[in-house]
Amino acid sequence: MNFIVKESGFDKKKVMLDGTRFFVGNGYMGVRGTLEEFGKEELCGCTLAGVYDQVGEGWRELVNAPNGLYTRLFVDGAEMNALEVEPLAHEMELDLRRAVLTRETEYDKVKVKTERFASADNLHLLMLRYSVTAKQDCEITVDTGIDANIWDINGPHLPTVDEGAVGELLYIDGETAELGNTVAVCGVMKTDFDYKLERVVTENRRSLRVFSFAMKAGETATFVKYITIYTSVDGVADPLKTAQEAVKTVSQQSFTELLAAHERVWAERWEAADVQITGDDEAQLALRYNIYIMYSNVPTHTDKVAIPARGLAGQVYKGAMFWDTEVYMMPLFNYTHPDYARNLAYYRVNTLDGAREKAREYNFDGAFYQWECQETGKDACTDFAVIDIFTGRPLRTHFRDQQIHISGDVAYGIWEHYIATGDEAVLLDGGAEAILECARFFYSYAYFKKTKNRYELLEVTCADEYHERVHNNFYTNIMAKYTLEMATKVLDLLKEKYPKKYEELMTKLDYAKDVPNIREMAELLYVPAPDENGIIEQFDGYNKLECPTVAELKSRIIDPREHLGAPVGLMTETQIIKQADVVLGLLLFSDRYPLEIRRKNWEHYEPRTEHGSTLSAAIYAILAAQVGFSDWAYKFFMKTATIDLSGNYRLYVGDLFIGGLHTAANGGTWMAAVQGFGGFKFDGEKLIVNPVLPEKWQSLSYKVICRGCRYEVEATKKQVTVRSAEGRLPVSVFGQEYSMESGEITVAL
Ligand code: BGC
Repeated sequence: MNFIVKESGFDKKKVMLDGTRFFVGNGYMGVRGTLEEFGKEELCGCTLAGVYDQVGEGWRELVNAPNGLYTRLFVDGAEMNALEVEPLAHEMELDLRRAVLTRETEYDKVKVKTERFASADNLHLLMLRYSVTAKQDCEITVDTGIDANIWDINGPHLPTVDEGAVGELLYIDGETAELGNTVAVCGVMKTDFDYKLERVVTENRRSLRVFSFAMKAGETATFVKYITIYTSVDGVADPLKTAQEAVKTVSQQSFTELLAAHERVWAERWEAADVQITGDDEAQLALRYNIYIMYSNVPTHTDKVAIPARGLAGQVYKGAMFWDTEVYMMPLFNYTHPDYARNLAYYRVNTLDGAREKAREYNFDGAFYQWECQETGKDACTDFAVIDIFTGRPLRTHFRDQQIHISGDVAYGIWEHYIATGDEAVLLDGGAEAILECARFFYSYAYFKKTKNRYELLEVTCADEYHERVHNNFYTNIMAKYTLEMATKVLDLLKEKYPKKYEELMTKLDYAKDVPNIREMAELLYVPAPDENGIIEQFDGYNKLECPTVAELKSRIIDPREHLGAPVGLMTETQIIKQADVVLGLLLFSDRYPLEIRRKNWEHYEPRTEHGSTLSAAIYAILAAQVGFSDWAYKFFMKTATIDLSGNYRLYVGDLFIGGLHTAANGGTWMAAVQGFGGFKFDGEKLIVNPVLPEKWQSLSYKVICRGCRYEVEATKKQVTVRSAEGRLPVSVFGQEYSMESGEITVAL
């Protein structure tokens, strides 16, 4: 049972990466795995989902709450801070099964052990148990409480705060600069020993209790910190009062009781979502880590936000949501926790008005979804997002105005949720409207080329991102086509089953005139086709670009931080792409292209892919598994699975810090295991299970929920078994269909 991520030894250089790697979170808050004695320089962060703020002209980003874990330890007057005093031993241990982070540090005179979790049972609760064991008689002083001197990228987001103490209870609250949202953090500490309270400090953005006690060699002293966080975004009238009352209530329970409630939620999650591999411990642990990260970041309490591209591991990338959500993250939740996926789908319904506004801003119809979306539905992406590190000048990029595939991805996400769950509620509550609006957007964006009797999409940014202002990008066009097809399906479904709703929407959206256009464009939208060699050109003119090797092109890089994409980056004038584009299109629409075409394009594009985005590897892994490139599939699987564990990723683009979790890769890892090696696909009527295990793996087992019923798949190299106590949908294994009437089938491979 491989659930433990461990690291031994303390290395100052790893503080930033470890803060991300040892993340704990519950979708409401994300707590970086920094040590309790650390401060803002070490990038301590308790990042709050859905609480955004803008200071002056800086980027609007997520707000970090004051740090309730803050604790400094003094032994015989000397501070034990791993940065100052080299520990004799140091170990971090993240238990993925229980979602608990443990730290053990040994110094000359004491050993420190802490355990923390962000409760999955009570999302406002962060818990810390802190133990000191004396190796010799000594005097201990502890300085613990809440620290509002916190890491901000574009802050300060809580410019002024109130520090306070009421008896044993400490608090800090402050208001965000832009919207005046209150963020309140309260803390209560309980000890199992007597101490002398030296002083209570409520100044300089800190609320602390300083206490001391004597220890004899061999003794252990333990205290528990109960930390509650509420904000006005939670819809409570008085966040401070609510946090104070909450901390009083929870502190009547023991750490163990609260931990047990937290563990129960995680046990249920692992029951639904664990994927088991035999024969490869490294892959097993990495895969579980990625599932853990996804479940620690998914908002279970709200549909006003989704999962940011860098998770809740800080303010990086503005805490914004991208297409990453629909294409890389929703599949995991659609098939293991559809109620969480429903929140993600509703998030796009909630931001539909913003998407309509954006379409109008550019003189288009329908819904042009935000490239970078926060809670308001406005696009947080700017036109001059990247600074040229050579000239210091801003570069005009076209992520915001031309990466139009986003509207297709959003529609796809909503529709795929419906396919997986059969739940029409999201469609009826705005999902259908969003799909229709996205289709209408593509119609208004398209250009009808009379001479060729086809619609084209001109001036777009490829999903690959190194190429902007190009025509007829394969991924964009096929996704747009699918959107138009989905829209026609939605129209048919509503008309047939919900005629009143259909009429309502037709009137509300004034859509009747659009229906024939949408149907026509679904037929006539041009999607670049395979040429005589089976290769699909990524966009018009791509084949004419220079084609160096990735290594050769990389050797031309002058500065590791330089921006490689458009308008003037190195890659733009070449065939080298940042991430999967044609290969992604072929994967999502694999039923439209024969295996041979998918294989040829994988072979063609992989050497041209720099994999400069962490979104790339998972897609290459899945398609490689499908087309029989097993070794490559494994290589790319391990690459995506270990991104956040290894810290092997880019930290800067231009002068922009982009470190943090890589939630698309985290979700992509599940996809690569289950959809790649597990060969799982669901078309709404039957499960498709075509497993292809990597050499090393003896077996792979996973669970999926399709249309409300649980299925369990167990594959070895010789056979595949599908079980379900409740589901009776047929299963197709390598093209042969089997009935699940008996609740179990085993097929020899
Ligand atoms: C990728 C995009 C992605 C974004 C956020 C970029 O580097 O190229 O496709 O949406 O990061 O993860």
